[in-house]
This record gives sequence, C-alpha cells and structure tokens, in this order.
Amino acid sequence: MNLPFIEPYKIKMTEPVNISTLENRKSWIREVHYNLFSLRSSQVTIDLLTDSGTGAMSDSQWSAMMLGDESYAGASSYYNLKNAIRDITGFEYFLPTHQGRAAENVLFSVLIKEGDVIPGNSHFDTTKGHIEFRKATAIDCTVNEAFDTTIAAPFKGNVDTGKLEKTILEHGREKIPFILVTITNNTAGGQPVSLANMKEVRQLADKHGIAVFFDSARFAENAYFIRTREAGQQNKTIREIVAEMFACADGMTMSSKKDAIVNMGGFIAMRSGELYSRASVFNIMFEGYVTYGGMSGRDMNALARGLYEGTEFEYLEARVRQVHLLGSLLKEAGVPVQEPFGGHAVFIDALKFMPHIPREQFPAQTLAVEVYIEGGIRGVEIGAIMADRDPVTRENRFPALELVRLAIPRRVYSDNHMRYVAAAIINVFNRRDTIEKGLRIKTEAPIMRHFTAELERL
Ligand code: F0G
Repeated sequence: MNLPFIEPYKIKMTEPVNISTLENRKSWIREVHYNLFSLRSSQVTIDLLTDSGTGAMSDSQWSAMMLGDESYAGASSYYNLKNAIRDITGFEYFLPTHQGRAAENVLFSVLIKEGDVIPGNSHFDTTKGHIEFRKATAIDCTVNEAFDTTIAAPFKGNVDTGKLEKTILEHGREKIPFILVTITNNTAGGQPVSLANMKEVRQLADKHGIAVFFDSARFAENAYFIRTREAGQQNKTIREIVAEMFACADGMTMSSKKDAIVNMGGFIAMRSGELYSRASVFNIMFEGYVTYGGMSGRDMNALARGLYEGTEFEYLEARVRQVHLLGSLLKEAGVPVQEPFGGHAVFIDALKFMPHIPREQFPAQTLAVEVYIEGGIRGVEIGAIMADRDPVTRENRFPALELVRLAIPRRVYSDNHMRYVAAAIINVFNRRDTIEKGLRIKTEAPIMRHFTAELERL
C-alpha cells in the first residue's frame, strides 16, 4: 500500500479554538454592524480572514528570535536577513519595513508622482490605496480568464501583455514609473503568474524603458505553481525558480507575513544602489533606520529563517494541498468556487452562490456574514465594498467578481478544521434561497472602507 501524504512538520504547541452558539454569533455580528473585521477573535471559531501574519512559526524560527541582535545600527540580525534575501531573491540591496504596505509607502514615495499610471495585474487594495493617495492611477491589465471563475486555466494571475502594451502606448512611457506584477495575484483569487509571462512583461518593459517591480507577498506559492504547472519547470527546485522569477524584476516589495511565515515584517529589495539611496531617506522618515526599518532584530532573524522554510517544496506541497482540500470539498457539494483553487485561499463566487441578491446589496458581504453565523467562520469580502468608491465620481465601483475569500493560515489548522468549514458553508449553500435580502452601508471611511464600514440588514 502507498503511504498517504503527511505534513513535513509536527506540532509542539497548541492554542484553544473558540466554540460558540448560533445565538451568540447572531447577536455578536449584529453588534459589530455586520463587519467581520470588528469581531473579536474570541468570537471566531475558525479564522480565515487572512493568511497574513497568522502562520505558525517553526521551532527554528523561535530559536532564531532568541539570538536577535537589537542594536540600532548594523545588527547581526540585519545582516542575517540581508544574506537570506540576497541568497533567495538575488537582490543586492534591501530595506526592512514593518509590513508590506510600508514597503509600498517607502518605494512609491520615491517613484510615483501625481498623474502617473501604474499598470499591473489586479493591484492589492493597500497597493492601490498608496497609488491613489498619490493621485496616480492603477490600471488592471490582468488576463480576461481571471474574471471567469469557471475557466480552469493554469495561470489566471497573468498580465495580459496586449492590455499592458496598449496602456503604455496610451499613456506614454514618461507617465509610467514602473509596472507592478503581483505574485500570486491575490485579488484575482490567489492565482499564479507564469514564468513565461514574467519574461514577456520584462521584454515589453525593456522595449519601452520601464522598470518592473514585483509585489511578492506570495512569491513562493507562485513558484510552486510554476514548478507543478508550467511546461519544462518540473526538474527545478523552488529556489531555482524563485531566482529566475526575480531575475525578471528590478525590485520587489514584500509582505513577509505571508510566504516568509512570520507574524510581522516586510521589506523592499532592489538591484539599484541609486534607488536604495533614495528610498533610504523615506525609510528613515517613515519606518526606522535602514538596518531595522520597523522591525526588531529578533523579527529579522525569524524572517531570515522563514524565507528558507517558505521556499521548501515539501512545505509548499502541504500548504497548497490543504487549500485544495477545502476547495475540493466545496466543489463536490456544488458550491461555486474559483477554479483552479489558488495558493493561499479558496474563493467562493458570491454572484453564482446567491444570484438573487443584487450587487447594490453586497452579495459577497452577505454571504460572508451567513458563513460566520453558521459556523463561526470568518472569511472576507473581496467585492464591491473592498473596491471602494471611484475617487473622482464617488460612485460605488463594482468589480468583475464578488468573492468571499477563505484564506488559510500557514501550518495552523488541521484537515479536520477544513472539513468543518466545508460543512458549514455547504449548510449555507443548501439554505441560500431563504436569504432574501443583502446589506446596506450605514457609515464608511473615504478610502479602504471595508475595514471600518458599518452595515445593516435590508
Ligand atoms: N500585497 C499583497 C498582494 C497582499 O496580499 C498584501 C496584504 C499586501 C501587499 C500588503 O501587505 O498587509 O503586510 O501591509 N494582504 C493581506 C491579505 C492583508 O489579507 O491578503 P501588509
């Protein structure tokens, strides 16, 4: 008999899971005005709000923390991290930041000015926020198949190079400080970008003399998909693929809270010493001195180890396999999910799940609320609430998809937890016709409203 798959780690420490009643959850969600961000974690049984900063560190990472060097300048932890980043990404220069959006803030302070255009593949919401805050425009050039959840294309995160070139010609090279490729493409469903596509983007960028940056939060999961799905990549190690990927970019921003499996941290890495010098000024102003930039020494040490652990094939296989287990359980029950399943999350297609709820009533948020009530499971809406209003017209923006994202923390939940999640969602699916109306926004912030908006049932 073939031995079954096992995770390449075992568990040394546990944390209780919070159990609640249906009545508890109904009143808690009403009290927080139907915004799942406002729930206390103690009110949540299985927390799939995000895979960001929620992973379990290894004993090796915890032990590295004890060796953290907390010197203000020139700490050994900084050099440990610098070596790991150079080794894995190939970038010579780096600046630590406290998380991914801080890296965006620093880098964009150098590169983006009012009226600029930043083409890319579905910019993440903080990224778009940092672009729009500078009165620049993010233009989404993702391939069309990303917007159909039923097409099983292997690289639905790709940049459509036709759309990209059109954007470049339309706005002119001087308005485009860089192209931003997000790996994996979170907003389109944790979908990967192929190595071939990265190379095409690089070629196009070179043709027009434009820089390329990668938003690299889930670069290792992206490399796993390249290795397992892209022709000719099967004999390479994850780290070889990662090196080839980053060879296509001039630099990267990183939210280390994802694929580097730490609870906090980020960085910018780049090839150019000149860019490093310019970015250093903003790093010192916003984050901290260039050798810690918002991170403590112990956190840089844990991150350096996490970069190695996160790029091991066996770990990635266990990770992606668990995400796909949840996706398969839902799919088998007929629940409409984004396919193929992504690297860090399963995305439920709310427009197909609840076609009777009009878009003005926020079907994905409505579904996320029902899933919480059913099983204490916290997912997140990736739909019209997150898409914010148009900065000029102030009208609601309705993106191509209304999704509920179930993001799975790394090395945290068991397969049984995934079975529980699937069962609860299937229960909601079976009673979907009884959900007659959606939600309405009562109060909202002018930007990134999804974090704090208050809603009510219609
Ligand atoms: N880029 C991508 C693709 C992301 O997914 C995130 C965060 C960021 C940048 C910003 O990084 O949170 O460290 O400041 N995504 C989290 C999520 C919040 O839940 O998807 P950060």
